Amino acid sequence: MEVRVAEEIFKEFKEHSIAEFFKKNRQMLGYSGMVRSLVTVVHEYVTNSLDACEEAGILPDITVEVKETSDTHYTVKVTDNGPGVPKAYIGKALATVLAGTKFHRYVQQRGQQGIGAAGCTLFAQITTGKEISVRSSTGKGKAYTCKVAIDTVRNKPIVTDLTEMNDGPSGLSVEGEFADVKYENSDHGVYEYLKRTALSNPHCQIRFIDPTGKENLFIRSVNVMPARPEATLPHPLGLSVNDLLDFARLSQSRKVSSFLVDTFARLTSNKVAELKEIAKGVDFDKAPESLTWPEAEELIKAIRTVKWIAPEATSIVPIGKEQISIALKNILNPDFMNVVQRKPGVFRGGVPFVIEAAVCYGGNSGEKTDEGHSGTMLRFANRVPLLFDASNCALTDAMKGVLWKRYNIDLDTQPVSILVSICSVHVPYAGVGKEAVSKEDEIIAEAKLAIMDAARGVQQYIRGKQHASFEANRYKTTMRYAKQLAKDVADLTGYDEKKVEEDIKALTLKHYPHLKENASEDQGQDDSGQRNDQASEPDEEKENQ
Ligand SMILES: Nc1ncnc2c1ncn2[C@@H]1O[C@H](COP(=O)(O)OP(=O)(O)O)[C@@H](O)[C@H]1O
Ligand SMILES: [Mg+2]
Repeated sequence: MEVRVAEEIFKEFKEHSIAEFFKKNRQMLGYSGMVRSLVTVVHEYVTNSLDACEEAGILPDITVEVKETSDTHYTVKVTDNGPGVPKAYIGKALATVLAGTKFHRYVQQRGQQGIGAAGCTLFAQITTGKEISVRSSTGKGKAYTCKVAIDTVRNKPIVTDLTEMNDGPSGLSVEGEFADVKYENSDHGVYEYLKRTALSNPHCQIRFIDPTGKENLFIRSVNVMPARPEATLPHPLGLSVNDLLDFARLSQSRKVSSFLVDTFARLTSNKVAELKEIAKGVDFDKAPESLTWPEAEELIKAIRTVKWIAPEATSIVPIGKEQISIALKNILNPDFMNVVQRKPGVFRGGVPFVIEAAVCYGGNSGEKTDEGHSGTMLRFANRVPLLFDASNCALTDAMKGVLWKRYNIDLDTQPVSILVSICSVHVPYAGVGKEAVSKEDEIIAEAKLAIMDAARGVQQYIRGKQHASFEANRYKTTMRYAKQLAKDVADLTGYDEKKVEEDIKALTLKHYPHLKENASEDQGQDDSGQRNDQASEPDEEKENQ
């Protein structure tokens, strides 16, 4: 074998852009599997529309149109009534990976990294070679259309065909053509994704035109905007050494001590005094940017030994008990439901989160199967439905940890929907694709308690229902046998057969007066609902004769 020296090998050494990295690793962004890839595109555009509308204080009206152009080729068009994107930013917003208005803020939002929209542009480009068509208006009489693509080698946007015009209400419309995708009407498809989005965002209205041309409308359930989440300071317990150093580098404070007080929640000058006692090796008077790794390590150790008040949860805006109820009623119309919201919890010591859960029974709950029904689980993180990767998710673990039998619930046969939602400034996703919540013990425990709370209410309903149906069955059976019994009694004793029959029926009715109304229908009918004027003789009795 030929021997190669380092100089020769390193001639091939090259730097790559982040866009190029994702071009090769598209599965990391949710582009794997044809059905899932289509959902990912819709998801990225719709969550951006929702974030933008909320930020601007506009009740979202979103139209999603999916068309099949040829086998595995589809166009997706998403139009919103949000604030739009100023012309100067459109390339950065839709065609630069890791660029956006959200990454640097410590606030509850759907998007975070600035990967979503550019990911769609990249996906269109690598599967069909086509640009994304954009129309945007910022509402002040200024609108434009253009096409955007990414120069993947340099992670730079390419904006072409720019045309300006003077009209139109504010909003953004994006349209792209994608291949290697497929529309499917399943639990994992676009329709289900949008239905669940409407569930967790009752303040939005979504119009969905599916590939058959059918228009599906998910109406707005509540007319108020959710409270705007406040940006908060991070809690010290959520920090790693590396985080602390990053914050220190960016700090404008003069000293380490004031940097700590200014940058983190619950960190008062009293706490700094406590930290000083423990972290003796740290100079609290020097400039924060000169903090070294060993010092940061010592500080973090000290932070973990002192006592902290839990972080404030004002930064979290959960969906709301009432809002969930209204949305569930509109979308699933269950016979019964119970919705709960738990008090804020904390994971990894310092990150607050809120869990909401609902258990619904009947109506359009659960899933229709060949044999009848089965239960379904609806997972949400910061109001975004999670459709994939269920087995990797803390919320699934929580649901599986519940002893459903105890609640008279059988997820294999009953029409039950279980909703679990987590909201947090920092949802710990299990991967870049954001399809599952990582299995933090505190989150699993809290979600399980929430589900159990919700199930308790439903248990009472099911028990009542079972009791009622047990009574109704007994009543029906007694009434069915009355005629035969009267005949036998009359034969044995010589009493008047009609009178005995009337007495038995009267006696039964006296005990089940509330069943009387259904009784007139039941009488003289067998289970198949056919008129039955002959004395009813249950089949098993015939067999016994
Ligand atoms: N529909 C929209 N309306 C207004 N601004 C948008 C819209 N979609 C995207 N943007 C802007 O583009 C940026 C990048 O979006 P994206 O790549 O999805 O990243 P992220 O949502 O994580 O910030 C957003 O931060 C936002 O500023
Ligand atoms: Mg986004």
